[in-house]
Amino acid sequence: MSWGRSNRLSRIFDPASGRTNMLAVDHGYFLGPISGMRSPRSAITPLLPYADALMATRGLLRSSVDPALPRSIVLRVSGGTSIVGPSLSDETIITTVEDALRLNAAAVAMSVFVGTEHERQTLGGLAALVDEAGRYDLPVLAVTAVGKELGAYDARYLGLATRICAELGADMVKTYHADGFEAVVEAAMVPVVVAGGKRLDSVRDALALACDAVTAGAAGIDFGRNVWQSADPAATIQALRAVVHDGHGVDDALGLYERLAGQPVPAGR
Ligand code: R5P
Repeated sequence: MSWGRSNRLSRIFDPASGRTNMLAVDHGYFLGPISGMRSPRSAITPLLPYADALMATRGLLRSSVDPALPRSIVLRVSGGTSIVGPSLSDETIITTVEDALRLNAAAVAMSVFVGTEHERQTLGGLAALVDEAGRYDLPVLAVTAVGKELGAYDARYLGLATRICAELGADMVKTYHADGFEAVVEAAMVPVVVAGGKRLDSVRDALALACDAVTAGAAGIDFGRNVWQSADPAATIQALRAVVHDGHGVDDALGLYERLAGQPVPAGR
């Protein structure tokens, strides 16, 4: 692997643990201002010290993230659809690789919609992005989208979608968790990170999801709503970090959450 690609990946996956505790804040690109992310700057700033990387759009970055804060950026470059439009899967490229380089992104991310009418468009787009980003050794994160057009999903579907992304050249894949997730990771060929999905019933459930994911071999998590829609986002992300990087089990991580909950975030963090 080239020095540049290796350097960028080491800004996402902590070399000590080989894992990432990525914070996803890109939801507004199709959902608009959802709960917990109506004021991105105030929501994100206290969480950044505990995230290895931030997954975001260029608009959110420029408006709401201090460029002096030393966090790696995984830049979402696909979109162009909305939750009120006719088809979420009809995505296109919305940000150039050139702009990603200007923003000093450590990687670019795009969604693919395997099994939808836009499967070919989005998979072809992924292959083209791999080619374009590859000119600069800029890694690509493929996101295997799920949602209203796909309905229920299982490890068989996620494994299929994940493997296809890797075959097309993605450096890493973000997908969802399902029973039997070991098989998804085993066949992926590249590191897999797990999205959190909709807010779960409790912080314990979110910690259990992260724990199950890394136990099954995931190279980390990329949670959004289960962090910044939780009762105490800063405590939640620190507890998730303990699971991802320090091997905490659910009970230990929940104990950490309970000790941290309600505490002010230290000044300067
Ligand atoms: C969805 O398309 C976005 O890429 C999100 O980053 C992703 O869903 C992860 O966020 P959450 O943990 O809230 O599902």
